[in-house]
Amino acid sequence: MLTVTESLTVRDNRTGVEYDIPITDGTIRAADLGKIKAADPATSEEGPGLAVYDPGFVNTASCRSSVTYIDGDKGVLEYRGYPIEQLAEKSSFLEVSYLLVHGALPTKEEYDAWVHEITFHTFVHENIKEFMQGFRYDAHPMGMLMASVGAMSTFYPDAANISDPDNRRLQIIRLIAKMPTLGAWAFRHAQGKPYVYPDNDLSYTGNFLSMLFKMSESKYAPDERIVKALDTLFILHADHEQNASANAVRSVGSTQVDPYSSVAAGVGALFGPLHGGANEAVLRMLRRIGKVENIPAFIEGVKAGNERLMGFGHRVYKNYDPRATIIKQQALNVFEVTGTNPLLNIAMELEKIALEDEYFVSRKLYPNVDFYSGLIYEALEFPPEMFTVLFAIGRTPGWLSQWLELVQDKEQKIARPKQIYTGERGLTFVPRDVRWA
Ligand code: CMC
Repeated sequence: MLTVTESLTVRDNRTGVEYDIPITDGTIRAADLGKIKAADPATSEEGPGLAVYDPGFVNTASCRSSVTYIDGDKGVLEYRGYPIEQLAEKSSFLEVSYLLVHGALPTKEEYDAWVHEITFHTFVHENIKEFMQGFRYDAHPMGMLMASVGAMSTFYPDAANISDPDNRRLQIIRLIAKMPTLGAWAFRHAQGKPYVYPDNDLSYTGNFLSMLFKMSESKYAPDERIVKALDTLFILHADHEQNASANAVRSVGSTQVDPYSSVAAGVGALFGPLHGGANEAVLRMLRRIGKVENIPAFIEGVKAGNERLMGFGHRVYKNYDPRATIIKQQALNVFEVTGTNPLLNIAMELEKIALEDEYFVSRKLYPNVDFYSGLIYEALEFPPEMFTVLFAIGRTPGWLSQWLELVQDKEQKIARPKQIYTGERGLTFVPRDVRWA
């Protein structure tokens, strides 16, 4: 019988030496490559061990994780083993947050206690409100969110005690609870409207809508269809394994700093247009196309390489993005309440044409999560700058689950990549008075 050895044999042609490197879970340990050494031809001294060069971590696993599973070829996304389709249809954002953070679904008592605790931590210190009011009238809400999340570490200095499980749990509850308050206040700030305090009689997402849109009415009554759509969008964004912002949270968290500082780094990473900003670009593209008759010419331009069809394609999903299918249905539900968005017809026709076109089919380009989410957000009267704030609120339990896993993982160390040095060596410093004489 053939026995399969889970190892890799590497022959270093510089020395002729062969090495057996164990393969575990489809990976080899970079440290094992470090044992492969050869003399530096310039000095004849033994050089440093072999390293891996991988800008952007395209083929490097940075951790073991049991939070989120993705199979990009099959279009599978699971949180703690549960398919995203089932969670989006039957769960709620707070239940999904519990699942992500704790690793298992809650009992009724656990769920009630979790919802109660999060609901009663939605208020923030008055001084946070005051410093948020100090931002310029046109401050980007993501900048305001990033700064206020980071500033929360000064209000909760006990958060630095990351080795205490009870303390960690309290900060996690505070962060999930307060993100909508900070996000909504950043929105109200840009509009010059008074900040609205949390209404703890409402659900998590209902209260968020109240803080965003309440005016002079004594009680804001959110439309439950809108609540469901937004809650589903939060679920769809709740985690996506080792994406750029989760990696930022883990990298900063690996220094053992408090979770507010780590999550602020995640907000910063999400702010970037390559990460959180594509739905805004979809909206601009649809506006530019303007009407269905202009689609064929637009598609020809994309195929000629003039531009990309925004909201299509994904680094990981090469079959379909499971989140896109769910979002499309939610978009239709929202338009029942808000009235249809003329851009929806363009989006649907564009999708139909692209899915039949050989260019897109052969390159495995399908609608991604951002293709329809911008349309929903616009229908809910969010300005484009707010789109990424909504993403950040949804992603918070994911960031915290990744952070929690990191701080309990004995294998983790401070994140400190290697480099390939390409600069000068051994120059002699000449002081300014001599250099400029
Ligand atoms: N429109 C037209 N052509 C495309 C597109 C597109 N949206 N995406 C990829 N291609 C083509 C690309 O030109 C290339 O063609 P060729 O082989 O002839 O050179 C081929 O498809 C492979 O592209 P790639 O750039 O190697 O693919 P990637 O995996 O590096 O890029 C992507 C993934 C998402 C950056 C890219 O598909 C893209 O730019 N899409 C539009 C932006 C977008 O919607 N981003 C949101 C991503 S989902 C949000 C998230 O989960 O973070």
